[in-house]
Amino acid sequence: MSILSTRQMLLNAQRDGYAVPAFNIHNLETLQVVVDTAVEMKSPVIIAGTPSTIEYAGAEYINAMAEVAAHKYDIPIAIHLDHFEDVEAIKSNIDIGFKSCMIDASKLEFEKNIAKVKEVVDYAHKFDATVEAELGKLGGQEDDLIVDEKDTMYTNPNDAAEFVKRTGIDSLAVAIGTAHGLYKGEPKLDFERLKEIRSKVEVPLVLHGASDVPDELVMKAISLGICKVNVATDLKIPFSGALKEYFSQHPEANDPRKYMTPGKEAMKKIVEHKIQICGSANRY
Ligand code: 13P
Repeated sequence: MSILSTRQMLLNAQRDGYAVPAFNIHNLETLQVVVDTAVEMKSPVIIAGTPSTIEYAGAEYINAMAEVAAHKYDIPIAIHLDHFEDVEAIKSNIDIGFKSCMIDASKLEFEKNIAKVKEVVDYAHKFDATVEAELGKLGGQEDDLIVDEKDTMYTNPNDAAEFVKRTGIDSLAVAIGTAHGLYKGEPKLDFERLKEIRSKVEVPLVLHGASDVPDELVMKAISLGICKVNVATDLKIPFSGALKEYFSQHPEANDPRKYMTPGKEAMKKIVEHKIQICGSANRY
């Protein structure tokens, strides 16, 4: 296959009541874990890169690695620009082949958010690339993007319907109580709000901040219409934890092929688990 946009993947998930997992990657190793595990489990998968990942690894490298994976395997694979705030950066990445993006203008007030998102949609759709946008505001930290708890804002269902209609986005990220990163207490998700959004909005809905959320809450959100589940922190912790453990036992280690391997193995277990939770295994 070639690299896909997320359009058909998410519509299939919406039709059949599961979610496609979107895993944030940072380099070749993390991309390999995500793709290899999805292939083993026959799950569609979205590889996501934030602006700082793209800056760190290079857009061409990330895109080329995803291309290799997509051509090598039969499962649907998309590479997605996650939490991009800069319209020009999105356009230049679409120009080099990215087929899916999130324009995050959630900090802006409603009309400005719509205008910025619409500009990206008009550009992306010319290249058959899909666009996700967020209405409301999630708390927590995603890379360099930090939103204080007091500034979080839940998605208003009526505004969501108008936002989707006027922007023409392909999927909507909703703020229903999740936050990026780890939680101080048990997260409380507003399922009534999710149901209402689902009843008013036709496009697939996206859950950000799915790390550290109890499995049953994520599964319930999927049963109520979430079609894409974003996971970053829950992958970083076991990867880095396994490396720390390896170095503590082998302080003399200097071979990346050796010290990266336990990190990959630890991350793989979590990717497997998240695919199970999403119900996306054996869909291809
Ligand atoms: P977590 O780091 O909380 O998993 O959030 C990931 C995310 O939403 C990426 O967009």
